[in-house]
Amino acid sequence: MQIKSICCLGAGYVGGPTMAMIAAKCPKIQVTVCDMNQQRIDAWNSENLPVYEPGLDEVVASARGRNLHFTTETRDAIASADLIFVSVGTPTKSFGIGAGRAADLRYIEAAARLIAEVAHGHKVIVEKSTIPVKTAYAIKTILAANSTNGATFQVLSNPEFLAEGTAIDDLNNPDRILIGGETTPEGFAAVEALASIYAEWIPRDKIITTNLWSSELSKLVANAFLAQRISSINSISALCETTGADVDEVARAIGTDSRVGPKFLKASVGFGGSCFQKDILNLVYLCESFGLPEAAEYWRQVISLNDWQKSRFVAKIVRTLFNTVVDKRIAILGFAFKKDTNDTRESAAIYICRDLLLENARLAIYDPRVTGQAIRHDLLAVGVDPAIIDTHVEICPDPYTAADGTHALATLTEWDEFKTLDFPRILGLMLKPAFVFDGRSILPHAELKKLGFAPFAIGKG
Ligand code: NAD
Ligand code: UGA
Repeated sequence: MQIKSICCLGAGYVGGPTMAMIAAKCPKIQVTVCDMNQQRIDAWNSENLPVYEPGLDEVVASARGRNLHFTTETRDAIASADLIFVSVGTPTKSFGIGAGRAADLRYIEAAARLIAEVAHGHKVIVEKSTIPVKTAYAIKTILAANSTNGATFQVLSNPEFLAEGTAIDDLNNPDRILIGGETTPEGFAAVEALASIYAEWIPRDKIITTNLWSSELSKLVANAFLAQRISSINSISALCETTGADVDEVARAIGTDSRVGPKFLKASVGFGGSCFQKDILNLVYLCESFGLPEAAEYWRQVISLNDWQKSRFVAKIVRTLFNTVVDKRIAILGFAFKKDTNDTRESAAIYICRDLLLENARLAIYDPRVTGQAIRHDLLAVGVDPAIIDTHVEICPDPYTAADGTHALATLTEWDEFKTLDFPRILGLMLKPAFVFDGRSILPHAELKKLGFAPFAIGKG
């Protein structure tokens, strides 16, 4: 089976970059990325891509118009594709059975029904979205029940492991590619067809193949294990603050044990992003559904700890500012959920800002990549009163404007530019004592102290 034409449903943070990389690496394959969101497709076709990722502009420019296309003409793209990636959103369900835990699979189901309606011939359908284990069964059933053109299908699971901010590096040089398929001759052939696309630039020994259910479940488990490490180190950060230990030193000490490893041990204001919380909740729901309440409770704790870390940070600010932040101006540096992305989904900053606004603080927010419109949208979505946003939130064009006249400054995203600010200038702009709350532990604390700031960093006694 040779793949000459690929279509991807969903031109989001995963669909766009992933398909751009495939198109760049496989010039003989036509790759069409579809979305019903016209604005998003227009942006992918412009010089101002909807996703900010270092290196993405170059990858898109190398293939767009040659073998990479962005369109809202989904039906045509499905009809002419040999292989169809489904990369639509799978948010947490907010209503009914499993509300707040289960994945909302409406976009997956709609995609499967559309494929069944339009497809003819043989198609390989690839789950790229993160989904609960056994979703391939639902997709196969929908395809079989609704196909009217005599089409045949193989369904594969090929979860994506890229992290935002490093998506291009991760796609270029992934730790592994995971492909799950049916253990039948047709299933093996479909797995091989997809594997041979990745093999254009990824060594074969990094391409792992499994059965469908192992692949689907591995994605949720991978995210759960990563998030668990962050909650583990964040729990220790609280202990460090009360004992005088330094969480970065502890992380280094334990991370040099090759069984533990050094990555994902950076204490923070809490993990954010569109996936960790959603995928753990999904795992919790699966455990509950399969009658494993103890396993569900174990994973739920990873999220509880993360919520505690955010509220602990707010409490630290309020307590330090003499137990009141009413009408005090606080500079917020960083709103994205991590550096090098414009994505704010589930960013710790949203909840920290909301809780400071509940304390009647005035916020001066600066982020190098997040627009004021996105910040207002996120605050509204967590219930902040629009009138409060108008009167108590100022979106600033640079860190110095944000710091002007503030009682405190808080770093919530680890943007590199924050490490080398003109700190004497910042000190001159702030009210005294000039409190600094470094939620990412990235600032030069010895220098800050020497200059006359009153700094606090997560996990530092
Ligand atoms: P996203 O919300 O940025 O993009 C999804 C897109 O799918 C939207 O633009 C939406 O309009 C479109 N869409 C929905 N139904 C469609 C249809 N029938 N046809 C065409 N387009 C349709 O989401 P995302 O961040 O790209 O995530 C997509 C999936 O990948 C999720 O399951 C997520 O868990 C998973 N994932 C995300 C990341 C990440 O870094 N964001 C990493 C790994 C896996
Ligand atoms: C994460 C995983 O790393 C990817 O492998 C996965 O594909 C993706 O989720 C997904 O399924 O969506 P992402 O959320 O983009 O990627 O970014 P991460 O680098 O994992 O960071 C997530 C959050 O954890 C950020 O808020 C980050 O600041 C925080 N973090 C990360 C820490 O607080 N400490 C760390 O040591 C690492």
